[in-house]
Amino acid sequence: MGVRILGISGSLRADSHNSRLLAAAARLLGADVEYVRFEGLKALPPFDEDDEEDPGQAVGQLRGEIAAADGLLFATPEYNSSIPGQLKNAVDWASRPFEGTVIRNKNAAVIGASTSMFGAVWAQAELRKVLSAAGARVIGRELAVSYAEEQFDADGRLVEPELQAVLEEIVGELVEQARMSAASRAGDRS
Ligand SMILES: Cc1cc2nc3c(=O)[nH]c(=O)nc-3n(C[C@H](O)[C@H](O)[C@H](O)COP(=O)(O)O)c2cc1C
Repeated sequence: MGVRILGISGSLRADSHNSRLLAAAARLLGADVEYVRFEGLKALPPFDEDDEEDPGQAVGQLRGEIAAADGLLFATPEYNSSIPGQLKNAVDWASRPFEGTVIRNKNAAVIGASTSMFGAVWAQAELRKVLSAAGARVIGRELAVSYAEEQFDADGRLVEPELQAVLEEIVGELVEQARMSAASRAGDRS
């Protein structure tokens, strides 16, 4: 069954290692997987509960793209041992209004890259926690790409076979979960 994966990079900068990592992950998706990259992170306003019901076009786009996806793939940088603020802001918007939130029961996986030796592991753990709190079904695994400036070749592929293997496993697990959810939804409709 064909599924759709939404890729979200937590970095806003043009030459982002995390956006490169997300692109490397997207290359691993099969021909029957539709991949869409979320491009609207920077345009999201700060979360305001007063605007929950009528938050404007940028939040509408985020919610619509999450709703249309069978799986979410996040690549997160680490800022001061945590998630970039704008990425947390996006999850907060997606988690509301509480009734009918688009992120509840959504399959999700988290990977990350940083220029330090730790590979954004704390940010990944925090993002998994936040996504789980919002009701997503988060894969427990992580991919820690440390010293990110040394880890990609000129084509943007991971040079370390061990990292590539973990990336393949995480992407495979996410697609598998997404297929099961899509099949069960199709079964519910028939
Ligand atoms: C405000 C700020 C805080 C940072 N804090 C951390 C940190 O806690 N741990 C870490 O490994 N890297 C940290 N870094 C370095 C990032 O890993 C590095 O800038 C990385 O390239 C950001 O991801 P990107 O390339 O996808 O934009 C920090 C960078 C910035 C700008």
